[in-house]
Amino acid sequence: MLQFDHIVIPQHQRRQTFRKRRNIMERQQVVLHMNHGMGDNSYAHNSIIQNKVMREAKPIVEENIMRLHTIIPIHCFKVADLGCSSGPNALQLVSSVIDIVDTTTSNLNLEPPVFQFFLNDLFGNDFNSIFKSLPQFLESLQENKGHKFGPCFINATPGTFYKRLFPNDSLHFIHSSFSLHWLSQAPKDLGNKENVHLTRTSSPAMHKAYGEQFQKDFKLFLKLRSQELVPGGGMVLTLIGRDKTREIRTSWSLLGTTLNDMVLANLIEATKLESFNLPLYDPTIEEAKEVIEDEGSFTLQRLESFALDWGANINEDVVDNNNKLDLNMKAEVTTKFVRAALEPVLIAQFGEQVMDELFRRYKNKIVQLIMEVDILEFPTLIMSLIKNV
Ligand SMILES: C[S@@+](CC[C@H](N)C(=O)[O-])C[C@H]1O[C@@H](n2cnc3c(N)ncnc32)[C@H](O)[C@@H]1O
Repeated sequence: MLQFDHIVIPQHQRRQTFRKRRNIMERQQVVLHMNHGMGDNSYAHNSIIQNKVMREAKPIVEENIMRLHTIIPIHCFKVADLGCSSGPNALQLVSSVIDIVDTTTSNLNLEPPVFQFFLNDLFGNDFNSIFKSLPQFLESLQENKGHKFGPCFINATPGTFYKRLFPNDSLHFIHSSFSLHWLSQAPKDLGNKENVHLTRTSSPAMHKAYGEQFQKDFKLFLKLRSQELVPGGGMVLTLIGRDKTREIRTSWSLLGTTLNDMVLANLIEATKLESFNLPLYDPTIEEAKEVIEDEGSFTLQRLESFALDWGANINEDVVDNNNKLDLNMKAEVTTKFVRAALEPVLIAQFGEQVMDELFRRYKNKIVQLIMEVDILEFPTLIMSLIKNV
């Protein structure tokens, strides 16, 4: 028997709770993925916002990689991209790193290294579409870089980044963009009936549970990665954050309101909504910093937040005279962005048949939201870390 203060939990109940939690995590590892393929609602066609984030982080990736080349002799540069997903962004890091290393090695008068990239995501990720795009990708690299381009080996590493993925001291650089706001699991059984995430009206217990799950997951992530990186190895991470004034949570809470409307219209069973919470958390800069310092394996080189406008300048072809997308188009783009990322987990809970209606209603709510706030702008955190020697 285990004893917590005055509560005594029999061992068989403890085993059941542990098994239940493990099942939730394992189910999430299979269910969670971005929308596959090349269709209208696919991640491949709706990930321009994430691409902007990667472009924003490129100078920081560059700084971290240049530093590495000045301190460690590198013959085979080993890089992992965690939560790579599919579509054009999945190989974006590979091109950026090759460009950066190309410039760095010629500036430092070093031999260009061989490259080995590990593309990681969960088991349900559309790895096949990445593999299919590889011949063309490698050919265009060869064309652009010519004889200077050393062998480049691209591997897939399926699995959760909340477990070990690589041998000890085997990587030089780890990158993860727009993925770490996904928790290993959502807090359960906290009476969050009509919502699917934190809202202004969520109970303090709910806020605490989400915050604690983030701390636990992020700390574990840092510990695991510190085991896999060589001493002095680098890591650049980006994720959705929040600040005290604007709340990204508005987008997630609108999804809760939409689902709740559908319960009232008898399109969704109330029990399904009651038992569902999104496994997402958007930390503040301070929360992220506290975990990094507390975990202790990394020196924080940079931790910045930049405002990401989810609507403006997404597609230069459809901007109006003010260089802004019109309201309807903005709402459409935002809805598809959310749909491409969340649809698989929503299908697993509510069924495929309600998805078109759900996102039709969601888009109307986004139109109203944009009319209220004008721009949908949210903080994105970028951090650059060095593994302590
Ligand atoms: C929004 S996508 C970002 C993809 C890509 N990095 C980009 O910037 O376009 C987030 C990705 O993280 C993946 N992901 C979420 N939790 C994960 C985990 N525990 N382990 C590995 N990948 C995970 C998801 O499957 C998804 O493909």
